Amino acid sequence: MPKLALALPRNTMSRIGVILAAACAALIVLLSALQITGLGGNLHFRILAFLILPALLVLGLVLAGVGWWLERIARRKAAQRSGSATPLPVVDLNHAATRGALLLLLLCGGAMVIILAGAGYQGIQVLESVQFCSQACHLQMQPEASAHDRSPHANVACVECHVGPGFGAWVDSKINGLKEMAEVATNSYPRPIPTPVRQLRPARVVCEQCHWPAAFVGDRLIVHTHYSEDETNTPKKTVLMLHVGGQAGKINSGIHWHVARGVRIRFLADPSRESIYTVELTTPEGSQKVYQTQAVPPVDAEWRTMDCIDCHNRPTHIFRSPAQEVDAALLDGRIDTSLTFIKREAMRVLQAQYPSQEQARTAISRDIADFYRTNYPELAAARASAVTEAGAALGEIWSNNVFPQMKVTWNTHPDHLGHDDQSPGCLRCHDNKHVTAAAEKIGRKCELCHNVVAEDEVAPEALKALE
Ligand code: HEC
Ligand code: HEC
Ligand code: HEC
Ligand code: HEC
Ligand code: HEC
Repeated sequence: MPKLALALPRNTMSRIGVILAAACAALIVLLSALQITGLGGNLHFRILAFLILPALLVLGLVLAGVGWWLERIARRKAAQRSGSATPLPVVDLNHAATRGALLLLLLCGGAMVIILAGAGYQGIQVLESVQFCSQACHLQMQPEASAHDRSPHANVACVECHVGPGFGAWVDSKINGLKEMAEVATNSYPRPIPTPVRQLRPARVVCEQCHWPAAFVGDRLIVHTHYSEDETNTPKKTVLMLHVGGQAGKINSGIHWHVARGVRIRFLADPSRESIYTVELTTPEGSQKVYQTQAVPPVDAEWRTMDCIDCHNRPTHIFRSPAQEVDAALLDGRIDTSLTFIKREAMRVLQAQYPSQEQARTAISRDIADFYRTNYPELAAARASAVTEAGAALGEIWSNNVFPQMKVTWNTHPDHLGHDDQSPGCLRCHDNKHVTAAAEKIGRKCELCHNVVAEDEVAPEALKALE
């Protein structure tokens, strides 16, 4: 009479499978215990414990199953040849040995389920973590990850913005992740990573979790300080009253009118979204206007519904121009404004090319020190630490914006929130060239968006009143 024990696999494949699964399970338990006690919490440790070992465990179980199945086929064939039937095992719970074997099987099975569920849960956490996104693909994510760490969204996880809602989007992102890992393994990933990103989570869903459209309304006073490239680095101020606007009560106005309730803007643009050809506006009342340019769109032009990231395309991965960076550093004291010609020299060293960030830091520090030693020896001696600090700050600025190994340099990622020499930004549409059949234009009057209260003035009247 066939006993339960007979049903247990006896083939090598199944044995290897069982041993592999048991070993992995034991290791997962051990590593989890280490993690709980606070030892070994780093990314590689967690990838091993919660992604690699569980995958091997599943492989072990599959091997065991396949081996058992092949063995059954072989047994059935042998039985057919000898003319006997192939009975199914009889489970007789009156036998102590059968009861023991069954209990063992249930316990092992239960333990496997618990271990796999726990490891699976932890594994998902690893896949969703900022470290995984930025370190697992360290080199190619470096520009975005380092900009993210310095942004107002440093505490928002990559997946919050990058993975769409729902299980489908999650699976999509993981399949995409596998593709990216293959690209990393074969060193064939694109440099720089193309932008705009097509699988972003819908901006309205993401951004509006934290930013409530009705909460950013009204005008905003903006003061920009630009330093001149003269001997004394003269600071000049530009003052704007920016009509940020939005949805206030029943009235939609100003810049956030584009995303106010009921307003829908669609546009046809080239894949980089730098050139916009047709704009279709639907108002809350349901009327439609189509603005068109004379230019012929390229064949790969795409339609898109305007949302937050058509203006805020750099909410997190913020790369600036050399002038913006130097002005900011002079304003917040990272670079001493009393160093003669420092703005001009800073612009010069930042725009030079260096093969790596390491070499840039060294070369920039040396170059700045040499400049003062040669041209202003007294200043160089008296303000030695200011000169050193300026060199270090400029090396840091270069390294925050230029990533030679990823072919990311100044202006690889233009910002659309405004208009400057990097990108026309708002003026991609507001250029008087987008016209309806009734000759209505998308306006480019300065006052539509802001009052320019002062432009590059040393001491603007408007600010005196506020002092
Ligand atoms: C607050 C939302 C947000 C967060 C958080 C965020 N991103 Fe992004 N990411 C964006 C947006 C928006 C873009 C640009 C989309 C566009 O221009 O179409 C982008 C673009 C990118 C790109 C494409 C290259 C580029 O610079 O345009 C990469 C790569 C990227 N992000 C990686 C990351 C990584 C890694 C993290 C976490 C360390 C992260 N992102 C966190 C919103 C976010
Ligand atoms: C998880 C919450 C969260 C999400 C999601 C989020 N933000 Fe923010 N955002 C913040 C916080 C926190 C700040 C910092 C506020 C501050 O410094 O005053 C901020 C700041 C900002 C600022 C002001 C930056 C500045 O320099 O003053 C803008 C603009 C902004 N976010 C746009 C966006 C956009 C666009 C998205 C969607 C792509 C987004 N945010 C998604 C939390 C979030
Ligand atoms: C038409 C372009 C445009 C669109 C679309 C847009 N914004 Fe803005 N937003 C701006 C500009 C311009 C500012 C002001 C920037 C500044 O202060 O320098 C701004 C400011 C903000 C601020 C900072 C407000 C403050 O007072 O500190 C937040 C937060 C913000 N936007 C979130 C969003 C969100 C969320 C969306 C999508 C629902 C969105 N924006 C859509 C152009 C836009
Ligand atoms: C995709 C095209 C597009 C882009 C990009 C765009 N706009 Fe507009 N904008 C429009 C259209 C269409 C209108 C409605 C026509 C008009 O009033 O001129 C409009 C209207 C406006 C208005 C008037 C809103 C009101 O009160 O009725 C302001 C202010 C404005 N835009 C500011 C901006 C700013 C600032 C930016 C850049 C940060 C920007 N726009 C980018 C298409 C665009
Ligand atoms: C469609 C909207 C729009 C129009 C039209 C527009 N601007 Fe602007 N402008 C902006 C936005 C948005 C910014 C960015 C504000 C900020 O830095 O936060 C800006 C910034 C500026 C700045 C500050 C630049 C700096 O870095 O200091 C100046 C100066 C300026 N605009 C002048 C003008 C003049 C002059 C006109 C008219 C010929 C004009 N703009 C038309 C939206 C517009």
